[in-house]
Amino acid sequence: VFELIDTVARLRASLKVSDLVRGLVPTMGALHAGHAELIRRARRECGVVVVSLFVNPLQFDNQDDLARYPRTLDADLAMCRDLGVDIVFAPQAGEVYPQPPECSVDVGRLADHLCGKFRPGHFRGVATIVLKLFQMAQPHRAYFGEKDAQQLAIIKRMTADFNLPIEIVEVVTVREADGLAVSSRNRLLNPEERKAAPSLYRALAEAERRLSLGERDASLVREAAMNVLSGSSPTVPLKVEYLEIVDAGTLQPVNRVTRPVRIAGAVWVGSTRLIDNVLCVLS
Ligand code: PAF
Repeated sequence: VFELIDTVARLRASLKVSDLVRGLVPTMGALHAGHAELIRRARRECGVVVVSLFVNPLQFDNQDDLARYPRTLDADLAMCRDLGVDIVFAPQAGEVYPQPPECSVDVGRLADHLCGKFRPGHFRGVATIVLKLFQMAQPHRAYFGEKDAQQLAIIKRMTADFNLPIEIVEVVTVREADGLAVSSRNRLLNPEERKAAPSLYRALAEAERRLSLGERDASLVREAAMNVLSGSSPTVPLKVEYLEIVDAGTLQPVNRVTRPVRIAGAVWVGSTRLIDNVLCVLS
């Protein structure tokens, strides 16, 4: 485990891995089955696997959320060891941000909708830390989950716009048996909330089903998904933050579905915010 940027840089140089592929799995810790999938994929494809564990204050718009974010360093290290990770980079905030940053990554229109609309500055913080982590670890490949589809789209675009010599690898969402997308936040749910939480995926699946039956009016597809959510859980009401149907590439809302779209939603289950999405490629 390394806490210092300098140590990672020196280690990187000493590894003499010019002929090996270095893979980075950026995380905020609280590792779960979704992260394990990213790490396994990186392990299969890369000679050296680096996992970063850093709860990035810059991407939290809400201080309570930052304070509540689960921190499980010992378990994270054990998982990394079990999965054969070569380097764990777990810096302190003061190491990553020795001074408040003046410069950050402006992510433009890709952050206008979905989570970006409700979490001002969030994706600026994400893109900025990911760019910094790319600089520190200098990976050839970096692994991200499809569950955070907007994050993934922004990172892909940043990588292209800044000519970063890094391949962004997308890994499909890992789900529990009842469909709930695996997330670090799931452990904040009480048993009742946990029972209600899969409704989000059920709503997205219903929207997907309507599209597969030929419905092309986005507002009707959305309405069908919203009906699933509103009828889902009498004991734990779900508060829908957004449920949108957006172009899969630009992430801008569509009225009629004529090309691949992402159906994405965020709901509050009690005081925990969950997100999920599905990609629909028309047949
Ligand atoms: O997806 C996450 O865990 C974070 O947003 C990331 C990419 C590690 C940046 O802090």
